[in-house]
Amino acid sequence: MHISSESAILYFGTPVILVSTVNEDGSFNLAPISSIFWLGWRAVIGVGSSSQTARNLKRNGQCVLNLASVNEVAAVNKLALTTGSDAMSPWKAARGYRLERNKFELAGLTPQASETVTAARVQECLVQQECTVAAMHGIAEDEAMLKGGILTFELRIQRLHVDASLLLDGNPDRIDPDKWQPLIMSFQKFYGLDNQQLHASTLATIPEKAYRSPDVDKARQISKITALSET
Ligand SMILES: Cc1cc2nc3c(=O)[nH]c(=O)nc-3n(C[C@H](O)[C@H](O)[C@H](O)COP(=O)(O)O)c2cc1C
Repeated sequence: MHISSESAILYFGTPVILVSTVNEDGSFNLAPISSIFWLGWRAVIGVGSSSQTARNLKRNGQCVLNLASVNEVAAVNKLALTTGSDAMSPWKAARGYRLERNKFELAGLTPQASETVTAARVQECLVQQECTVAAMHGIAEDEAMLKGGILTFELRIQRLHVDASLLLDGNPDRIDPDKWQPLIMSFQKFYGLDNQQLHASTLATIPEKAYRSPDVDKARQISKITALSET
């Protein structure tokens, strides 16, 4: 029997990502998000427009998506209720958010130079995706009370780094989902997945190569930047 519900939260389980961006003064910001999906070598993320992450993405157009595994749960939790923005929204101020300028240090995470963007990677994260902003779109523009509050960024992935421990048969282009243990946020709480496959997957009869996007070949042509923004 289904009951009509007005659950205020509709996060039924999405992966946790640490988005690293570059601040106005060249230092690094780091923010956990869970509003994300991928299509080919594009990712779409949803962030509050007053966040430092949104400000940095609008200004500098670059970020790294660092995928948190279950091993990073404590570090992610240390970043909760923090912002890198000195212009904190009243909503956040009322809920106990505080300004934190060095979130890598706060979380005990290590900045690692990226190859194609100025934003740092998180060394501890086993999957890191270097990205540039391809498009930005406002969410809930049709509702006066919400308009301007949330932004989605379409990100073009231009470098993918995967820890060798996650590879299928040592093949750099194949990731073994049995080895990847994503950190999942569900209704503001943290979960892992049972890393055993639950059921045979009919969709998985399609070979992975069939999904290869022309973006992957374009990404290959993007050479390493020389001036890396290191800490
Ligand atoms: C696990 C987790 C998931 C979150 N997911 C999102 C999200 O998807 N979008 C968002 O705007 N904020 C999300 N937040 C809140 C942001 O981290 C928060 O707005 C933070 O202040 C952003 O940091 P910044 O202002 O330095 O960019 C999440 C927080 C946590 C702890």
